[in-house]
Amino acid sequence: MTSKMKFVQSLIKTAARANVPKHIDHFSKFSPSPLSMKQFLDFGSTNACERTSFVFLRQELPVRLSNIMKEINLLPERLLAMPSVQLLHSWYIQSLLEILEFLDNNPDDQSVLEMFVEVLESIRNRHNEVVPTMAQGIAEYKDTFHQLDPVTDHNIQYFLDRFYTSRISIRMLINQHTLVFNGNTNPAHPNTIGCIDSMCDVPEVARDAYESAKLLCEHQQHREAIQISYVPSHLYHILFELFKNAMRATIENHKASRTLPPIKVMVALGGEDLSIKMSDRGGGVPFRKTEHLFSYMYSTAPRPSIGDKHRAPLAGFGYGLPISRLYTRYFQGDLQLYSMEGSGTDAVVHLKALSTDSVERLPVFNKTALRHYKLSLEADDWCVPSREPLDLAVYRADK
Ligand SMILES: Nc1ncnc2c1ncn2[C@@H]1O[C@H](COP(=O)(O)OP(=O)(O)OP(=O)(O)O)[C@@H](O)[C@H]1O
Ligand SMILES: [Mg+2]
Repeated sequence: MTSKMKFVQSLIKTAARANVPKHIDHFSKFSPSPLSMKQFLDFGSTNACERTSFVFLRQELPVRLSNIMKEINLLPERLLAMPSVQLLHSWYIQSLLEILEFLDNNPDDQSVLEMFVEVLESIRNRHNEVVPTMAQGIAEYKDTFHQLDPVTDHNIQYFLDRFYTSRISIRMLINQHTLVFNGNTNPAHPNTIGCIDSMCDVPEVARDAYESAKLLCEHQQHREAIQISYVPSHLYHILFELFKNAMRATIENHKASRTLPPIKVMVALGGEDLSIKMSDRGGGVPFRKTEHLFSYMYSTAPRPSIGDKHRAPLAGFGYGLPISRLYTRYFQGDLQLYSMEGSGTDAVVHLKALSTDSVERLPVFNKTALRHYKLSLEADDWCVPSREPLDLAVYRADK
């Protein structure tokens, strides 16, 4: 047994002693409280009060953590037993315990508030590698047990969507609190409140994401700004992933030719929606496969090795699309892919234009969620065509 695993196991034992399951039961009885972009903005500017934020978070963070920890416990036992999943589970337990420490502290004590910011920062760092660690766990599980049955497959997809959404939301709360109350204002960005920009210039972020993806691209030469309240880092993540996919498809589809067709980005702002369309001529995906593109277990790229930190690959675990869609949905938007095999793909991002409409979309653990994990394999209510061509000779009537 490695020393890392020993450490993890001793931590889990300590946690059991500290009554973690009881805390999780208690806090998971509460539903998370979704905040709107407008609430985030108002809270961080006009009436920023560290004490209020502290009192809110020491309840809300355990609620969000416990709701998702209930679901971690419902994962297939063999997946839970994977070393990377155990490690990740121990991070959640540790972070929950650290926040619970503050329940009995006096919110009027300035040193308590300062310590809280420090603890939140260390929690954020502890969870930096959650996504690749989880991806690694799933990959190991897949390698060990080869074919996954459709129920397990469905459960993992369902779980990961909720797990990663929960993580996005927890980091959002932590970032807002630590950025707003760490005492530094950002003079370069007067419209920024925490990690939200109330005048997030969408074409500008698209240009940044493009610059990082650093390849051929032709974009609309918008000079006027198109602005909404949004989290630039989220938007950047989404567009960067879309650019990488579009570029990889374009390059792979035009290996023989000397010129590459452009990738076009269009941004449209209406009364309700802000939409971004990225169009490539990378050959597209067959319609049959489009439903797999958002699966955490699908990629056409070779899997990168986890230790390989020096080389950021253009494609990796197959997480680009599913995670980007979670970011869009987190504030009530969506991401859709329209592909035409033989030509190319349009990826369309829809975001809410109004800060009152951008409300956090959060998973809650309840009977409905539980039912998803208990789903059993039932017969398909549509006929499944055979893969073999039908041998008509069998049916031919003998004369
Ligand atoms: N614009 C596109 N044109 C053609 N195929 C695409 C396009 N975007 C995505 N795909 C297909 O969808 C798959 C999944 O995309 P996704 O971004 O989720 O993962 P990935 O690119 O394989 O890996 P990662 O994004 O994690 O580095 C890709 O492997 C590719 O086969
Ligand atoms: Mg990708």
